[in-house]
Amino acid sequence: MKIFVDTAEIDEIKEANSWGILDGVTTNPSLIKKAVEKRENIDVEEYVKDICKTVDGPVSLEVIGLTREEMVEQGELLYEKFNPVNGNVVVKIPINTNSPESSVGEYEGLKALKDLSSRGIPTNTTLIMKPEQALLAAKAGTQYVSPFAGRIDDYIRTRVGLTRGDDYPKSAYHDADWLRHASYLNLKSRYDELEGEELEKIYSDKAVAEVKDSISDDGIYSGSSAVSAINRIFSNYEFDTAVLAASLRNSRQVREVAEAGADVATIPFQVLEEMIGHYKTERGIVSFSEDVVEEYEAIFE
Ligand code: G3P
Repeated sequence: MKIFVDTAEIDEIKEANSWGILDGVTTNPSLIKKAVEKRENIDVEEYVKDICKTVDGPVSLEVIGLTREEMVEQGELLYEKFNPVNGNVVVKIPINTNSPESSVGEYEGLKALKDLSSRGIPTNTTLIMKPEQALLAAKAGTQYVSPFAGRIDDYIRTRVGLTRGDDYPKSAYHDADWLRHASYLNLKSRYDELEGEELEKIYSDKAVAEVKDSISDDGIYSGSSAVSAINRIFSNYEFDTAVLAASLRNSRQVREVAEAGADVATIPFQVLEEMIGHYKTERGIVSFSEDVVEEYEAIFE
């Protein structure tokens, strides 16, 4: 699995690069905003060029337009401006740019993907929240799909009444197995009440249906299970499109998307830091250091 860092903070990119584990960078308008707000009088074009120089691997840069024409024009511009710097710019296109705030139609992203891919410009399809979207993006010729694992988990937690910030921190792991088990136990008493009645009664029980519905988003129980489903679909049909797990919030989630077979995980810097430490590793190194005998030390002299 390749590791990208999900940041526009150049010091973080440099640091992760120095660890020898970095294969690329992903940015988006929100990450660029954070970097801009930290600096005065920043020349963003130069800044983005510096990002491209820092890493020997793909750098994803996102368009800001919502229509096919805007996105294609901006994608070409990003590619023209920044690809010469490291030869590895990937244009990020949202899968669907339609919203109540901006009714542009639901297919602008797909059309832009097709246009850019026919012009040889590599794309990373962003804001993927379900496998069906990934399948369409792959058909349109994208190089990467970015399922937003953390936001999928947020959405499922919203459905069971949990709000990020109030009920759990952004970094909290979403334990989909636990949620399913708890829901099962909760419903079990209802099954017991139904004892002796036909199985269909359970299927037609509204409360059962509501609980079943709330713990998943149309059958997707977690962000990492979405990554796994996309990976299986791509394998079934031998798509070349890479699965780039994004919106990762904690190291356990990184483990899950790696288990799910993601080709790439784009990881925020603080989550990368979280991946390295373990209490027993720390205790282990202390005890190895204490146990060094002079005779062994001598061979290093
Ligand atoms: O790569 C996408 C990512 O930057 C979004 O992350 O944590 O804001 O959902 P998040």
